[in-house]
Amino acid sequence: MFHDTSFPYHFLSPCLWPAPQSCNALMSRNGAIIFYPALFLYTQAIMNIVYLNNKFLPADQACVPVLDRGFIFGDGVYEVIPAYGGKLFRFDEHLQRLQNSLSAVRIPNPLSHAGWGTMLNELIAQNEGDEQSLYLQVTRGSAQRDHAMPDNPVPTVFAMSNPLLPVSQEIREQGVAVITLDDIRWQRCHIKAISLLPNILLRQEALDQNAAEAILVRDGFATEGAASNLFVVINNILVTPPTGPFLLPGITRDLILELAEANNIAHCEKNISRDELQSADEIWLTSSTKEILPVTRLDDTPVTNGQPGPLFQRMLALYQDYKQQLRNQ
Ligand code: PDD
Repeated sequence: MFHDTSFPYHFLSPCLWPAPQSCNALMSRNGAIIFYPALFLYTQAIMNIVYLNNKFLPADQACVPVLDRGFIFGDGVYEVIPAYGGKLFRFDEHLQRLQNSLSAVRIPNPLSHAGWGTMLNELIAQNEGDEQSLYLQVTRGSAQRDHAMPDNPVPTVFAMSNPLLPVSQEIREQGVAVITLDDIRWQRCHIKAISLLPNILLRQEALDQNAAEAILVRDGFATEGAASNLFVVINNILVTPPTGPFLLPGITRDLILELAEANNIAHCEKNISRDELQSADEIWLTSSTKEILPVTRLDDTPVTNGQPGPLFQRMLALYQDYKQQLRNQ
């Protein structure tokens, strides 16, 4: 299963909770049971230390005014940054993408580069565990409800840390099932906007069909997943769609292209038609929280032999080495 945003399940350690696919099954087959772990998880979550507008405080004490435009309109942007060994992963790249998103929606960046670094490192220190997933969001702040942007917005800055749970060995070995769906999103998918209703509907549609993720198709071409980027392997060439308005320029995506370049793996950025997707030798999904996931079933048909492919195995090893170097720095 591919729950990037499955709050509050992130707060359960894998030993207390079966693989996420059983979460859904458990919920649908026996709704009552879910309340006990959910309550426990919620308690864990509210004990976490979060950052809100210059203050570090327990999550249950962090309050945002109801007129915040993030709450009223989904008017804001976000980032998800992993930390390995307590160190922020590709921090400069994430901050550059944040700046691009803020500029695109005309919200002033409320913190300097150093200010973001200091705040996020403090958040890591105030929460448990070396491997964390940092979530930050900036909204246009509070104002009387009006679609027009306020003249002098005071952005709301919120950040939290969740444990970064490793992808299970089972998923690495068996891969995940995905379905294709029409890309119903807008034409600014390169902005990491907090208004994610289409992505939520698409992901849920996939989950309802026992798939981990939806691969989105726009005008006959596969763009990305509901919360992940897309790679395919065709004739030993690693292919990913080019960046542009129809997909998020993933930080993991860029790193994979860099690793391919550095290790003489043939690769290119090129649109992927539905036919090419269906006949690809390998399909991968990438994101900060899930790294690289092999797709072994597409719309109920096995991808090649239904096993993760050799290039996936190679890239996963390169990716793990890269993470280890960061931990050792
Ligand atoms: N999502 N495309 C979409 C639509 C995404 O939401 C994400 C990540 C990605 C991968 O980007 P990156 O490699 O920078 O994580 C691509 C995050 C993890 C989320 O919304 O939780």
